[in-house]
Amino acid sequence: MTKENTTKGMNITRERMIQLLNEDLAGEYQAIIAYTVYSQVLKGAAYTDIARELEAHAGEELAHAIKIAKQIDYLGGMPGVMPKTVKTSSDPVTMLRADLENERETVGRYRERIRQAEAMGEFALSETLRAIIVQEQEHEIDLSAALDIDVPLAKALAGKNKGRGQLKKHHASRNGRLV
Ligand SMILES: [Fe+2]
Ligand SMILES: [Fe+2]
Repeated sequence: MTKENTTKGMNITRERMIQLLNEDLAGEYQAIIAYTVYSQVLKGAAYTDIARELEAHAGEELAHAIKIAKQIDYLGGMPGVMPKTVKTSSDPVTMLRADLENERETVGRYRERIRQAEAMGEFALSETLRAIIVQEQEHEIDLSAALDIDVPLAKALAGKNKGRGQLKKHHASRNGRLV
């Protein structure tokens, strides 16, 4: 077992952090592409509002990509140029599920990255990642609401808002199709 495994990936080198951030950057590129395309091809009255939200997500993912590229450059690395593979489908639910799956994976990756950045003493990096993860979690909630999937995070938010009914109402006003 390597030292990295025994410390659960916390004690990592600068080079390893650059490599991991480049994987994150490839995920951000994937998200930009997926949201750009899906927001335009989602058809039907039921999807009008979520399509508009996906368009907003695309812009936020671009901002994430720029922030991650900046951090890679700051660490002395070269930001990569290749996106992760983007799934294509003509089925709205398949598209939304692909986005949700990617957001969940992204949140998990950034949670780990924040811990690694703090273990390295790279607090500016961890702050940047914290700001990004807040938006990724919002994306996850938007997609879950559109697919009418309950998520632990949505439950937590519902708790803060004194009940799930209020969260549903919140999304009803944003997504239209939910009541
Ligand atoms: Fe992102
Ligand atoms: Fe996202």
